[in-house]
Amino acid sequence: MANTPDLRNDFLWGAATSAHQTEGNNVGSDMWRSEARRPERSGDACDSYHRYPEDMRLLADAGLNAYRFGIEWARIEPEEGLFSNAQLAHYRRMIDTTRELGVEPVVTLHHFSSPYWFTEDGGWTSDKGLDRFVRYVEKACTILDGVTWVCTMNEPNMVATSMTMRGLAEQGGQDLIAGGLPTPLEEHSLRLVEFHKAAVQVVRERTSAKAGWTVAQQSLVALPGGEAKHAELQWLWEDLFLEAARGDDFLGVQSYSSKNVDADGIVKQPDHPDNTLTGWAYRPDALGIALRHAWEVTRGLPLMVTENGIATGDDNRRIDYTTKALQALYSAVEDGVDVRGYLHWSAIDNYEWGHWAPTFGLIAFDRETFVRTPKPSLAWLGGVARRNGALESSG
Ligand code: BGC
Repeated sequence: MANTPDLRNDFLWGAATSAHQTEGNNVGSDMWRSEARRPERSGDACDSYHRYPEDMRLLADAGLNAYRFGIEWARIEPEEGLFSNAQLAHYRRMIDTTRELGVEPVVTLHHFSSPYWFTEDGGWTSDKGLDRFVRYVEKACTILDGVTWVCTMNEPNMVATSMTMRGLAEQGGQDLIAGGLPTPLEEHSLRLVEFHKAAVQVVRERTSAKAGWTVAQQSLVALPGGEAKHAELQWLWEDLFLEAARGDDFLGVQSYSSKNVDADGIVKQPDHPDNTLTGWAYRPDALGIALRHAWEVTRGLPLMVTENGIATGDDNRRIDYTTKALQALYSAVEDGVDVRGYLHWSAIDNYEWGHWAPTFGLIAFDRETFVRTPKPSLAWLGGVARRNGALESSG
């Protein structure tokens, strides 16, 4: 087991969040509207819109040196063409605050939520969609001076599945999706590739940042007899997006679990006492599968783990999961995979797209008072970071 890895000296150790899941009151976004149909709403979320300095300081004090966070299109452009300088200044202050704390900002331009006006008027599939997104990215670039890592779009494969789901629902095909998420249609995925490529170009022209996107890696494993189906799903769920990253500056690897594939498709995870609070299989080794696969398909693009973590109420289990995930990362690095950082999901318990129960955070908080309480896993990961990855203190 690789407990003392040979990582780069500038390896980034941090945690991640998204804007909608933590800021609170993102009322101009499509997600805010769609929450009316979900079991629970985001509401004030973690109030990180106001309390981000405290969140960042807790990470820095623990020993982490990176923080991935999102900027919110729905705040920056609340109506089409109406850009808010005050909101842009807010996000610039977030960047400045990370710098003051000695923390490297990793900035996500789009993390699932879009302005309501954008989605209402056709979103990604509208003829005007690409110009609208590019105009937003151009504005965002005005505050990215000195930022080194920019993620254009979070998990386009999950965005594509929701586009496909919406299409099926509009055709009255809800029963088709009752068993789980539909496989993304290639036409939807290719459309998102266009948006990403355009955004990369804008970021490269207007900033000195490295640009890439982050992919929800599934770590699909073929069961005997499922090889052909596995190859088909591997392409539609993942490899299309990984291949599209060739030529970018880096790829964000996001990994939580692994799924089996048989001749009929992805096998639903059966109930099991080891399942996490999201019902996923407990598979910390999935990170190793994801990194190795991304490295192969992108043909050697630098990788950054932009999300990895576990929904659990048992913080010892979080430490156990993360220890094993890091061992899988170290073993991939030993085998030559170029990994630039590890950003744990999540910095703080947050709104899990309709639910509050699945807690992924290194920090807990009180939903009435917003008082933050770091969990032991935060100090633990900070210690690992201070030792640049060594899992056991040498002395
Ligand atoms: C997303 C996060 C989400 C996490 C856990 C990723 O798919 O980027 O927004 O909270 O997984 O479900």
